[in-house]
Amino acid sequence: MTFTSSSTVREIALQLPSSIRIFEAFGIDYCCGGNKSLMQASQQAGVSPERLLEKLSELDVQSADPDFSPWQQASLSSLTQHIAERHHEFVRNEVPRLNSLFEKVRSRHGSAHPELTPMSLLFGFLGEDMLNHMQKEEQVLFPYIQRLEQDSEQGTLPPATPFGSVDRPVECMMRDHEKTGREIQQIREWSNGFTLPEGACLTYRALYDGLREFEQDLHRHVHLENNILFPRAIGLEAKACALA
Ligand SMILES: [Fe+2]
Ligand SMILES: [Fe+2]
Repeated sequence: MTFTSSSTVREIALQLPSSIRIFEAFGIDYCCGGNKSLMQASQQAGVSPERLLEKLSELDVQSADPDFSPWQQASLSSLTQHIAERHHEFVRNEVPRLNSLFEKVRSRHGSAHPELTPMSLLFGFLGEDMLNHMQKEEQVLFPYIQRLEQDSEQGTLPPATPFGSVDRPVECMMRDHEKTGREIQQIREWSNGFTLPEGACLTYRALYDGLREFEQDLHRHVHLENNILFPRAIGLEAKACALA
C-alpha cells in the first residue's frame, strides 16, 4: 500500500486502519477533518510529511486493528449496535463526569487559569448537543438503516420514511459531527493540547486525561459513522431503489 503526501487522511485511515493510532499520536483529526491531504494535515500538526509517511510505511499492513478492521464487512446492524453500545454509552457516562470535574477544577484554579471558564462552558454545550444527536441516531437513523438492511436481504423495497432518503439525516448528522469536531479542537487549543500547568492537582490531571480520552473516542466514533456506516447505508439504499 503506497501513500503520498497528496493522499487524504481519510483514505489512509480507511485503507490502513492501524494508521489511526499514528494520526492520534500526532493529534491529526482523521474523521471530521479527514478530507485534508497528508501534506495539509502534517503542516497543521507541526510535523513533516516525510516523517508521517515514514511512520506509515513502518506499519505492518497485515496486522488488523480489531477496533476498526471488521466494520467494512460486518453487517450494518452490528455496526450500529457497536456504535451505540461502545461510543454512545461512553459519551453518556463521560459527559456528566467531566462536567463535574470541570466544576471542581474551575472553582479551585479558575482565577490562575482563566481559560478553564470558556473550556468548561463549551464542553457543557458540546455534551448536551451530543446527547441530543445520539438520541436522534438511536431513535431515527439507526433503526432505518437496520430496516433497510433487513429489507434488502429479503429483496423488498426500502422502507418509507418521513425524511425521503437517507441522505438527509446523514447530512444533518455530519454537520453536527463537524461542529463537535471544531469544538473539541477549540478545547484542545485552549488547554494547549491538554498540557497540565505546573503544580496541577490530581483532579486537574483527571480532567485533562478524561478530555484527551473523550477526544480520541469522538474521533473513532465519528470515523465509524462518517467514513463507514453512512457511505455504506447510502450505497445500500441506492442499490435497493435501483432494483425496485
Ligand atoms: Fe453516534
Ligand atoms: Fe453521530
